[in-house]
Amino acid sequence: MPRPVRRLLACVTAAVVWSGGLGAVAVTAGVVATATPAAALDNGLATTPPMGFNDWNAFGCDVSEQLIEQTADYFVTSGLKAAGYTYVNIDDCWMTHTRDAQGRLVPDPVKFPDGIKGTADYVHSKGLKLGIYEDAGTATCAGYPGSLGHETTDAQSFADWGVDYLKYDNCNNNSDGTRQDFINRYSAMRDALAATGRPIVYSLCEWGQQNPWEWGADIGNSWRTTGDISDNWASMLSITKSNLPLAPYAGPGHWNDPDMLEVGNGGMTDTEYRSHFSLWSMMDSPLLIGTDLRKATPETLAILGNKDVIALDQDPLGAQATVLAQTGDTYVLDKKLTGGDRAVALFNSGDTAQRISTTATAAGLPKRAGYAVRDLWSHTDYQSSGTLAATVPAHGTVLLRISGSALSAVTSLANPPLLDTGVTGAATHIQPGQTAQLSSYVTNLGTLPATKVSVKLTAPGGWTVKPAGSGSSLLLLGGASLKTPWKVTVPAGTAPGSYPLDGTVSYRALLGKKTVTVPLTGSVTVFVPPPAGTSYLSDLGWTAATNGWGPVEKDQSNGETAAGDGHPITISGTVYAKGLGTNAPSTVTYELGGLCSTLDTTVGVDDEKNGKGTVDFQITADGTKVADSGVLDHAAGARTLHAGLTGVQTVQLVVTDGGDGNDSDHADWADPRITCS
Ligand code: GLA
Repeated sequence: MPRPVRRLLACVTAAVVWSGGLGAVAVTAGVVATATPAAALDNGLATTPPMGFNDWNAFGCDVSEQLIEQTADYFVTSGLKAAGYTYVNIDDCWMTHTRDAQGRLVPDPVKFPDGIKGTADYVHSKGLKLGIYEDAGTATCAGYPGSLGHETTDAQSFADWGVDYLKYDNCNNNSDGTRQDFINRYSAMRDALAATGRPIVYSLCEWGQQNPWEWGADIGNSWRTTGDISDNWASMLSITKSNLPLAPYAGPGHWNDPDMLEVGNGGMTDTEYRSHFSLWSMMDSPLLIGTDLRKATPETLAILGNKDVIALDQDPLGAQATVLAQTGDTYVLDKKLTGGDRAVALFNSGDTAQRISTTATAAGLPKRAGYAVRDLWSHTDYQSSGTLAATVPAHGTVLLRISGSALSAVTSLANPPLLDTGVTGAATHIQPGQTAQLSSYVTNLGTLPATKVSVKLTAPGGWTVKPAGSGSSLLLLGGASLKTPWKVTVPAGTAPGSYPLDGTVSYRALLGKKTVTVPLTGSVTVFVPPPAGTSYLSDLGWTAATNGWGPVEKDQSNGETAAGDGHPITISGTVYAKGLGTNAPSTVTYELGGLCSTLDTTVGVDDEKNGKGTVDFQITADGTKVADSGVLDHAAGARTLHAGLTGVQTVQLVVTDGGDGNDSDHADWADPRITCS
C-alpha cells in the first residue's frame, strides 16, 4: 500500500525539515522576485526542463527493477518517448540498509536483481535515460544510507552504473541551518559528479528551505521550491502560488522545480489535472510523470501526451511564465516563446466558473490587425482581432498560443473567429425549487463575422432550461454579441453547491464550410438561506469546501485522509461539541443571501497532532477579509474571531499554512455560530 508508506515518510521528512518552525520558504503570489541569477551550472545538461517518470508519487517505497523496466517499455509503446519523456527515475528505497566492505552503496538485490547497472543497461537499450535518488544527509528520508561524507564514492558508483540523473534530497542533514551549510552539502555532490566525467543531470531537493533559486543555478540543474506535493487540488494550487513569483530565476540548465506530477493518481478531476499540467508547462517545470503508467486511462495519457502543451515547457527560450494579472482567484499567465510567439493561460483557481480576459498586446505581442490563436487543449486554430477571453470552469485553465508572425495576421483570417462565450446574470445563485432568469452570451472576438451561430444550454438532470429569447444568429459581426435569456428551474431538494450550467456554441467562419463547436461554460450556485436565529455552521450546508488533507469534517477534527476519521475538536485541552475540522490550506464557503448579521467562532490548532502545526484563520465576506487570527501555532491556544456580515452574500472560512508549508496543520473552527434574520 504505497499511500500509508508515503504519509509516514512525509511525517519523517517534516520532523527533520520543519523543526525550526517558521524559517521555511514564504513566497507570496503576485510578488515578483528580483533575481540576480548565479552563473548556470556548466554541465551542458537540461537545456530544457527534464521530462520523464519518477516512482515516488504513485509507489512510495515499492520501487523495483520490474517497475522501472516496464515503465521504460511503456514510454516507447505509448508514444510518450516520442513526446519527449526521457528519464526513468528511481526514488528512495532502492538500496540496502548498509554499505559494502568498500563503503559503497548496495542496490537491494530483491528489488533490483540486475543491480542499478543492469537496470540502466535495459533503460538505455530503449533509447532512454536512468535517474536515481540519494540524500545530502546521513540517511535518506526513508532511512537508507545517505551520501553526506560519501559523495565521491557514491557519485562514482552512479557513474559506473550508467546513471544519467540524480535527485539529491535533504533529510537527516545534520545541518546547522545556515545557507552556507546547504551550499556546501549540495556543492560537494556537484563536484563529485563532475569529477566522474559522466554527464548527470543534478536535481536539488531541499524543499525551498534556503531559497535555492538564489544560489542553486551554479550548483544544480533544478531545485525544488516547496515541500512535497500531494494528489489534491489545495496542494497543487499552493505550490503553484509559491512557484509563480520565482520566474526570474529559471532558465536553460537551471529550473525551478515545483515537484513531480500527480496527473492520473485519482485525487483530482481531469479539469484539475489539465490545469496542473498547463501550469507546470507554463512554469518550465521538470515534467516527471508520477503515476502508474501501466494503468493510465486514455484521459491521463491525453493530458501527459499533449504535445502542444509540452512544447511550451520545452520551448528553447526557457522563459518561465509570469503573472500578467491576478484578480481574486483568477490569473492571466504569460510565457515568452521562441519566434515571438506567446502562450497565455487563463487560470481559474476559484470554485465557480469565471470570465477571464486579456489582450494580445498586453501579453507582449506587437500591435497587429489580427492574430492566429491556437487553443492548446482543443487543438483548434482561431483568429482574434486582439482580445483573448473565455469563461473558464472552476479549477480550469484555457491555454492559448498566439502567433507573433506578421504573416499569420493575414493567413489567420481563414480561421474561425475566436468566440468569448459564457453564462452571466445576477441570478447565478438560485435556491432549490426556484426559477431564475440567466443570460448566455457569445461575443465574436475575431475580425470577420461568424455565421450560423447557434447556442445550446444544458443543465444537470432534473433541472429545466428554457430559452426566453433567440439562441441563434445568421451573422455575428466581429466585436458583436449574441445575448440569450434562459429560464432555469432548480428542482426542490437540490443540495447546496456549485453546478455546471454548460452548453455549446456552433458556428462557421465566414468563408468556411465546416461547423465549429466550442463549449459554453457557466455554473449556478444552489444555496439554502440560513434559518433565522443563531445556527452552528456545521449544521448548515456549505456550497464549496477545499482542504489540504482529507475532507473538511463536521463536529470533529480533520483526522487523516478518510471521511469521518477525526476526533472531538480539542484546542488546548478544551473540547468543543460543534465545529469544522480542517487542514490548511482550506476554504469553506457558505451562501448567506444577505440575511445574516454576525459570525462568531473560536479558532486554534487541534491537539491531535501533539503540538505541531502553524496556521492562520481568516474570514472573508464577499471577497474582502473581515477577520484574521494572525499566525497561530499550537502553543498559542484558542482565539475568538468576530465578523460583521450585514448584507453579505458569500462568507468564506479560510485557513492558510501560516507561511511555512503544510505540516500537521490541523485547524479547528470551534463553535462557529452565525446569526441571521
Ligand atoms: C522527500 C522528497 C520526496 C521523496 C521522499 C522520499 O520527502 O521531497 O520527493 O523523494 O523524500 O523519501
